Amino acid sequence: MSKPRIVLAYSGGLDTSVAIEWLKENKGVDVVACAVDVGQGRSAAHDSSAVDYDDLEEIKQRGLDCGAVESVVVDAREEFADDFISPALKANAMYMGKYPLVSALSRPLIVKHLVRVARETGAAGVAHGCTGKGNDQVRFEVGTMCLAPDLENMAPIREWGLSRDAAIDYAAERGIPIPVKSKESPYSIDENAWGRTAECGVIEDPWVAPPADIYERTADVQDAPDAPEEVVIAFRNGLPVSLDGKAMPMAELVEQIDIRAGAHGIGRIDMIEDRLVGIKSREIYECPGAITLIAAHRDLEDLCLEQELAEHKRTEEGRYAQLIYNGLWWGPLKKGIDAFMDEANKYVNGEVRVQLYKGSATVVGRRSADSGLYSFEMATYDEADQFDQSLSEGFVKLWGLPLKTWAARTKAHGEQL
Ligand code: ARG
Repeated sequence: MSKPRIVLAYSGGLDTSVAIEWLKENKGVDVVACAVDVGQGRSAAHDSSAVDYDDLEEIKQRGLDCGAVESVVVDAREEFADDFISPALKANAMYMGKYPLVSALSRPLIVKHLVRVARETGAAGVAHGCTGKGNDQVRFEVGTMCLAPDLENMAPIREWGLSRDAAIDYAAERGIPIPVKSKESPYSIDENAWGRTAECGVIEDPWVAPPADIYERTADVQDAPDAPEEVVIAFRNGLPVSLDGKAMPMAELVEQIDIRAGAHGIGRIDMIEDRLVGIKSREIYECPGAITLIAAHRDLEDLCLEQELAEHKRTEEGRYAQLIYNGLWWGPLKKGIDAFMDEANKYVNGEVRVQLYKGSATVVGRRSADSGLYSFEMATYDEADQFDQSLSEGFVKLWGLPLKTWAARTKAHGEQL
């Protein structure tokens, strides 16, 4: 009789390579390796420790060499940009107001493909290579519970708790061909088109400044160009559609802006983060494209959104980022807030000029041909002024009436204001 199958989220790195054999030995299953390309390969060229995701065939073969019965590689770069980055950008989603949700956005997409492959291969469950200390385990498992509650969730790394050295020994004893790296990264890295994350190593001391070698996608400001560079980003319905007048698909636009902003040292984030599992952790992120696009999008919203809507949107944005961070991507609140964000972004049309210079993405201009709410005649102080200032007199009196009444009562009771 054939063994039950498990689809493992495969990265091609040490942990998930060894996990294939471990699952076979300890769970009596056959393993289907599934690697999902969400744009993590961009900096591989600069980092000898990174897996070269550009070579999808190589990663597929590696899965088989490590003992998988089947190995699939999914190119999900466009899907990631269109269905995961796009809604996050519409919501200017930043966890704790700082982190653009890099890993939190890719996990639900990876889960979607794990489940699809599980259906296609008749698997009984799915597995991930996360430890028990982070948010990613939650995102994987809650995602599966939602999309395919009948599938079992397995967490080999969390269960067996092998150290790095022990994992290398385990591989050597069993002849598992672990990825050869000329330089071992001292950090735990996750990467995709929306940014790069680094944890562990010396940065676990929150007092220690991030070492230069932790960065990959951003130049040090000292080495960044001495002249500013300007980009013009055009948006339609809240999403970027062209860069410097050149129309391009979302995935390409995000990559281009990421490279250009990264060269100016934009998007480095050093923060203490509140994990869902209760731990405070020190994280270093590089998100040049995300930071630049969010800055531009926010600014255009300021031009195009009515003020009550804009104010409410800001509160929804925080809630939205939090629920995605907490692994609730596939749930009903996410859907509901998306509907709100789509409505809010309906008239976010126009162009934004962004200056990239020495670590900052600064909006220096914005315009909207058909959707802006800025009125020169209302705003100007020169003779073109159309604003009827006489209306303000009565307005201010009524606006201040509640406070005037309250102040009189307070004074009558002998209290100082
Ligand atoms: N702390 C970030 C988050 O929870 C990054 C996680 C990165 N994951 C990793 N396996 N290194 O979204």
